[in-house]
Amino acid sequence: MTATLAETQQPNKSVLPIICGSRRIRFVSLSISIAVIWIVASVYWGSLSGIDGQHYTRTIGGVEVDIGGVGERQNTQNTQNTQHTCSNPFSQLGTLHVNLTHREENNWVPFDSSCQPPRLMASLAAQISGDTLSHSHTDTSFAHNKTILIMGDSIARETVKYFCNLLGEDVVNLGDDHPWSPFAGEGEAQKYNLSQSKSHSHGKRAPRESSLPNICYIPSIDLMLIQSFHFGMDTDAFFASKEQYNPPNNYEDRLIVHGRNILDRISMSNTNEGESRSEGESEKETRAAHTLRQPDLVEVSSSLWDLARFARIDIEDDKSTMTDLSGDRLAFYMDRMSEMLSATQSIFPSAQLVWRTCHYPSESNHKLDWIDWIGRSINTDINTHAKMARLEQERLYQDKPYFHLNRLFQLDQAARYVLQKEEFDGVGLNEWGRLMFGQHAHQIDQLHPSMLPGGWLWGDTMLYELRKATLRANQ
Ligand SMILES: *[C@@H]1O[C@H](CO)[C@@H](O)[C@H](O)[C@H]1NC(C)=O
Ligand SMILES: *[C@@H]1O[C@H](CO)[C@@H](O)[C@H](O)[C@H]1NC(C)=O
Ligand SMILES: *[C@@H]1O[C@H](CO)[C@@H](O)[C@H](O)[C@H]1NC(C)=O
Repeated sequence: MTATLAETQQPNKSVLPIICGSRRIRFVSLSISIAVIWIVASVYWGSLSGIDGQHYTRTIGGVEVDIGGVGERQNTQNTQNTQHTCSNPFSQLGTLHVNLTHREENNWVPFDSSCQPPRLMASLAAQISGDTLSHSHTDTSFAHNKTILIMGDSIARETVKYFCNLLGEDVVNLGDDHPWSPFAGEGEAQKYNLSQSKSHSHGKRAPRESSLPNICYIPSIDLMLIQSFHFGMDTDAFFASKEQYNPPNNYEDRLIVHGRNILDRISMSNTNEGESRSEGESEKETRAAHTLRQPDLVEVSSSLWDLARFARIDIEDDKSTMTDLSGDRLAFYMDRMSEMLSATQSIFPSAQLVWRTCHYPSESNHKLDWIDWIGRSINTDINTHAKMARLEQERLYQDKPYFHLNRLFQLDQAARYVLQKEEFDGVGLNEWGRLMFGQHAHQIDQLHPSMLPGGWLWGDTMLYELRKATLRANQ
């Protein structure tokens, strides 16, 4: 924490030791830097206690990256002001530009004109489409030959789909017949009794599909995103009876079955190259398998299923769901989040880990959507009983929303507190959710943000973390 504070304020002195040398050298140099900076700081500012520590904490990414993006760090006046840093434009105060007709105009725009985020989505989209005339060119080679694992809910699923579409591709769902399916392994389907729950309703998306992994692959730059679904922090199979449920239940197990195993399968299909393709595997996917796939970045988020679980428990107890979460619940959330981050670090030790903040969906009328979303309405005949059932549910769950902004805010605060732990010093923070605050006008339903500005902005923030990780790895 102190190191962090020091780094951001005295970049010249402390950045070097952090990015080079062995652990011991780094530690010693870091300690010396901290001591020197502490003294200097104490002399000049009397005390550091007045400085907002939290604000600086998450700028660690550590490296003071000179990004060279449009407008970024152009303005070097104020160099006397050592408190001024631009280590992450997305954590700066600013305003979200929304433009539904020009996708590249959907940006986070900090008030500080010297600290604008690089236009990474615009540059990448231009490069992929071969548009070399575009003005907004920032080097995007950092995204080449990269693998990204996204662990989250349907919000994450939609943002990955948008990302893929914006770059001219479609996601591929890893259904049971796909060779990379989480249940493709020997005996895997039987282990989870999958054949019993297999039910595909015609004409509609099979419910199970919505929580199976999706792959987004951009062949021209060999960029792969694997989006894997999880049902929050629960460890008691709370949602196991849901139609869209896929085992296993706990995040840690899903990280293996819906994460690492899939990466292994993709890598393995590389070794079968030259042999005939497995059924269902397209040429594009075969090309995707040309290299061993280890994630360079893993993005994790969890909040909406957690709130849905709390709300359901409250509703069963006939309690309001608009009250604040108890200390016990927040403690549970923080403990589980720590466990999830640790598990992710140990399974993918070389990947940059990033926590993505949750957006704040519209509050109005969300009761019904949430009921639909988590499948609360139980097998009512759509044509005859649906309306009655909805009215009845509306009456029953009046003032009992599945989430409320106060609870979302509490979880966000709790997550930021967990990230302050020393052991998570290297974990990045994607501020997408916070930047999307209040953008209810731009949702496809009462829960999921639309492609603009949400999808584009997510791409910008995710690519920003990827680039930071790549630059650091190459130092
Ligand atoms: C969207 O961006 C285009 C191009 O910059 C601009 O002409 C247009 O006025 C913008 N629309 C809005 C609503 O800001
Ligand atoms: C792609 O990255 C992997 C490791 O991430 C590396 O082994 C491989 O050589 C790279 N391939 C190319 C073509 O750069
Ligand atoms: C699968 O079914 C068997 C027999 O019905 C049962 O004993 C077992 O616990 C089930 N396994 C899971 C993971 O549900």
